[in-house]
Amino acid sequence: MKLGITGKVAIVTAASGGLGSAIAHGLAAEGVRVVVFSRSQAALEALASDIEKEHGVRSLAVVGDMCVAADLKRLVELTQAEFGGVDILVLNTGRPPLPSRDAMDENDDARWDQAYQTQLWGAVQVTRAVVPLLVARRWGRVVNIGSASVKQPMPKHVLSTVFRAGVSGLMKHLANEVAQHGVTVNTVCPASIQTSSLASSYNLNERLKSIPVGRLGRPEELAALVAFLASDLAGFINGTNLQIDGGMVGAL
Ligand SMILES: NC(=O)c1ccc[n+]([C@@H]2O[C@H](COP(=O)([O-])OP(=O)(O)OC[C@H]3O[C@@H](n4cnc5c(N)ncnc54)[C@H](OP(=O)(O)O)[C@@H]3O)[C@@H](O)[C@H]2O)c1
Repeated sequence: MKLGITGKVAIVTAASGGLGSAIAHGLAAEGVRVVVFSRSQAALEALASDIEKEHGVRSLAVVGDMCVAADLKRLVELTQAEFGGVDILVLNTGRPPLPSRDAMDENDDARWDQAYQTQLWGAVQVTRAVVPLLVARRWGRVVNIGSASVKQPMPKHVLSTVFRAGVSGLMKHLANEVAQHGVTVNTVCPASIQTSSLASSYNLNERLKSIPVGRLGRPEELAALVAFLASDLAGFINGTNLQIDGGMVGAL
């Protein structure tokens, strides 16, 4: 299958580890030039260097915080200076405050505010900063990394459920608004994809019992879905929330 995105330019936020770095590699493997953005300079620079060595495409590391408007302004300026624009935005975020398994009455104001900032406000800020560049090119793809919690709220995950539902709402609004400019917007809804932070947050033996395929997901499986949604072939997929969870979500 030819995805038709060789030579395109992608920004991947929250990219220094876990799912973000797997997605950056997955896009680069398709010939996409990748701008990776998050707060840890050493990890980001190592990622950009690995991408260039492994996939033979240019990769730019931009250090910054998704919740800081000035950092996003610099992300856009450096991307434009290096690549002249951007075609693909992968909107990944950090996790909600850890430990993430607290019940309603265990979340104080500080945790609610932290979850709001990292999950929802950061996504709004990135969207406002980057999407106008996609619209300007009259072709673009936005792929938001959400969570299965928007399909099936999970016990003790209120901080994820509330704000990720907000981001899915934002993406649906955006999908309606920018499709006329050739830009599609979709959310992927993962659960149980194996990253180091997943292993530290859950009893994995318990988690496996809820997954019909009987194993955890691999980051490269999520990356492949993102690359497809970012491709030319996916131009009629718009405004969806697509599960990638081994069948965990119980709804039709
Ligand atoms: N793994 C799963 O099965 C699963 C399921 C549902 C949802 N998710 C969600 O998918 C996302 C990625 O998951 P993961 O397992 O890859 O998480 P992870 O390993 O904890 O990685 C999170 C990334 O977010 C970056 N980050 C955090 N806060 C940031 C900020 N304010 N600005 C910029 N970058 C920031 C971190 O880099 P720096 O520290 O360098 O900034 C890191 O690269 C998370 O939101 C997670 O909740 C994952």
